[in-house]
Amino acid sequence: MSESKTTKFVTAGRDKKWTNGVVNPPVQRASTVVFDTVAEKHHATVNRANKTLFYGRRGTNTHFAFQDAMTEIEGGVGCALYPCGTAAISNAILAFIETGDHILMVDTCYEPTRDFCDSIMKKMGVETTYYDPMIGQGIKDLIQPNTKILFLESPGSITMEVQDVPGMAKIAHEHDVIVMLDNTWGLASTFLHLSMVSTSRFKQRLNTSSVTRM
Ligand SMILES: Cc1ncc(COP(=O)(O)O)c(C=O)c1O
Repeated sequence: MSESKTTKFVTAGRDKKWTNGVVNPPVQRASTVVFDTVAEKHHATVNRANKTLFYGRRGTNTHFAFQDAMTEIEGGVGCALYPCGTAAISNAILAFIETGDHILMVDTCYEPTRDFCDSIMKKMGVETTYYDPMIGQGIKDLIQPNTKILFLESPGSITMEVQDVPGMAKIAHEHDVIVMLDNTWGLASTFLHLSMVSTSRFKQRLNTSSVTRM
């Protein structure tokens, strides 16, 4: 039986492997993890990027439960956590960008996103073009041969423009451009951006390109 959206808000991330049988995941704070055998330690090392307790900075069961909850609620294939939104945005961009690439950045982006593009990206030899958030299908004319990322923020900071996410993402996908979306001002309950996409290839791209949520 499939769960309704509202039920999912209550049940998401509550797998017993994280909760140990209580209702909510306990808050686990740690750096060093103790293993009984070298084999267990080896297993944790190999699986440290796959929700296995290895070292606190790589995540605890509390983080793993939260990652599961976000993935389930937003309908993604995975979730990476960062200590703040600016870290999520800059790491998502850095994961894909190379010197000589071009970013299409929405003009209503969060100020630290603009700072990151105007300072660190510029220093790395990455060009940024700021576009009108309401450009819609007109984004096609701004795509260059070296455009690597189309970055959206919807609703946009301060002025709250709502972008044509499916339309613009479709065009980007046709040009092999990665789509990233800062979804801070959206709501998981109403703006299920990952469900707005039509092809699995596109879905993967939007998904791997981190979405930030406060
Ligand atoms: C649009 C937007 N994106 C991202 C963030 C996250 O920023 P921070 O680095 O402060 O967590 C914020 C915070 O206000 C925001 O408004």
